[in-house]
Amino acid sequence: MILLDGKKTSNDIKNEITAAVQEMKDKGEKVPHLAAIIVGNDGASLTYVGSKVRACERVGFESTLIKMPNTTSETELLKEIKKLNQNPEIDGFIVQLPLPKQIDTQKVLMAVDPDKDVDGFHPTNFGRMALDMSTFIPATPFGILELLERYNIETKGKHTVVIGRSHIVGRPMSILMGRKGFPGNSTVTLTHSQTKNITQITSQADIIISALGVPGFLKAEMVKDDAVIIDVGITRVPDESAAKGYYITGDVDFENVSKKVSAITPVPGGVGPMTIAMLLKNTLLARERHRV
Ligand code: GUN
Repeated sequence: MILLDGKKTSNDIKNEITAAVQEMKDKGEKVPHLAAIIVGNDGASLTYVGSKVRACERVGFESTLIKMPNTTSETELLKEIKKLNQNPEIDGFIVQLPLPKQIDTQKVLMAVDPDKDVDGFHPTNFGRMALDMSTFIPATPFGILELLERYNIETKGKHTVVIGRSHIVGRPMSILMGRKGFPGNSTVTLTHSQTKNITQITSQADIIISALGVPGFLKAEMVKDDAVIIDVGITRVPDESAAKGYYITGDVDFENVSKKVSAITPVPGGVGPMTIAMLLKNTLLARERHRV
């Protein structure tokens, strides 16, 4: 069984990005600059955004964190987005999700300049992805592709089953795995909460990508021998004995599933760290595109 080590792979990628930034510095060029807007004080979101800013520092990027209160209106947020769109210093930016309920998320994502949309959430970029055009691929799906590629996991002609149809992971993943090229060329089944007999479907899968957010959902009896398992679930389970007051767990019953499969991502240390590395990669890409 191969453990698909996202922590190590993401470190490799960050080292490659650091080298590219050093090269830019040596040539006297501007280095990539990522900005992040966070609205409100959700603990998990603050942690994620903090990790993104630290990752920028580590690879030598400039970063700007814009914190807005939970009571921020849609108009105020749109004004901040407009400023970032117009600021030539900023190569790419993200609006951390979820947003407070008074704000229309779709409207906000549509306001981001597609050329600075390093999350790849703008409909223009989503469409470009579906049409095999150059774009920003959303960081989590991009990270999964990168893991499959670097571990040389065969995807051509394989049956890939995606669990969950979120706009951030499941839906784009189902498109990407069916595209031409590597990783891709899979036959894809997209399953979700209304899917009947899911075990019948998952037990035929060569590759399972689970992005459901239900701890321990994928059990050993739902998986065929030698399948490849990608666990995108990151759920915080409260636990007073843990140092942070919670522990992180995935969608997969790792202990039992790992015994019968050919490759699997751990949680934590699998897909999670890859997501941040690919956001950095998209920001580097944005800088390179803005240069020409
Ligand atoms: N919330 C959960 N995942 C993400 C992500 O990839 N980007 C942003 N902006 N917010 C998120």
